[in-house]
Amino acid sequence: MSRHLLGLRDLSVTQIQHLLDLAQSYADGERPAGILAGRTLMTLFYEPSTRTEISFELAAKRAGAEVVRCDVDRSSVKKGESFVDTVQTLEALGADAIVIRHPMAGAPTLASQLVRCAVINAGDGMHEHPTQGLLDLLTVSQRRERIAGLKVALVGDVLHSRVARSALWGFTKLGASLTLVGPPTLLPPLLPSSLFPLPSQVTMTSSLEEGLQDADVVMALRMQLERQQHGYVPSLAEYARYYAVTARTLAYARPDALLLHPGPMNLGVEITADAAYGARSVIQTQVANGVAVRLAVLLWALDIDEQREPPRSLRELGAERGNAGAREREVAEIPATRPLPVIASGASRSGGPRGDLMNNEIATGLRPSQ
Ligand code: NCD
Repeated sequence: MSRHLLGLRDLSVTQIQHLLDLAQSYADGERPAGILAGRTLMTLFYEPSTRTEISFELAAKRAGAEVVRCDVDRSSVKKGESFVDTVQTLEALGADAIVIRHPMAGAPTLASQLVRCAVINAGDGMHEHPTQGLLDLLTVSQRRERIAGLKVALVGDVLHSRVARSALWGFTKLGASLTLVGPPTLLPPLLPSSLFPLPSQVTMTSSLEEGLQDADVVMALRMQLERQQHGYVPSLAEYARYYAVTARTLAYARPDALLLHPGPMNLGVEITADAAYGARSVIQTQVANGVAVRLAVLLWALDIDEQREPPRSLRELGAERGNAGAREREVAEIPATRPLPVIASGASRSGGPRGDLMNNEIATGLRPSQ
């Protein structure tokens, strides 16, 4: 059996916590050698990527999987092959899991309705980027006792950001409150609706000072110029003047606030070097956590997360590092036999498996990116 990971909105709190615990065990040094032996992972990226694609590859290779990268620019996509045909071709060639990044919201959902292998969303248009959301949660959970009760500020181009959408579901499901900060043109529509529901713990403001007030976590978002058809801001310089996260503006947040950015950064636009490389930045840790998170997601998607070798005792690891403790208790609480619900493919919401992408986007309540 395989599971699809299409968005954090679809996951229960228990599932998110399970994936974070599994990822933490790998971040703590558990060795995945051989656990994915005999499995084939294929990556299909229609948009550029450094961190996401490499960390999926690294995670799969470290666990012994065969990894095949479909280079879209040199594939039959250039001869006019449809997305649907490409995905089905990869499955026919033996993919156990396909990792998809696509500029159209809903593309991985559509793929998940067409194939039996696992489909993992590595970012679809303005929709979601669930593995990024998980690594953001993991990074914060490593530094704070609990996510519940934290104040998180997402700053910048929230409207076009799939990172923001996954963070929104992930942090609020775990009990944090969220403030979306940005110019009115770059915030989602004010009125929550069935198309754009906003959890009740989410507020919005266009004042950076107000939005960062008492924040425990500040996440600066990249200006998504590739998804902006017309001027959402008068100029990048003007945007930076009012909304850049700098060492100075970070002072509006709590003195111990953590600074995140999904990367790639536009230094001098949404974030400045003094903040990005400053003492509060955990940006490099986010990148490093990407491998552990993607490994956990692969095991979960292929339904071997519960069958793996029992981890080396965390007590043993902790003793080596002199920090046996909280993680050990948390991991010990996961019952080894607990069944995990299957994630619905969303088929019931779409116009059918062959429905085109636009229908699919409308069905998922999303607008396509440009
Ligand atoms: C993000 C993406 O592509 O969605 N990058 C990433 O995966 N780390 C964020 C972005 O490009 O703004």
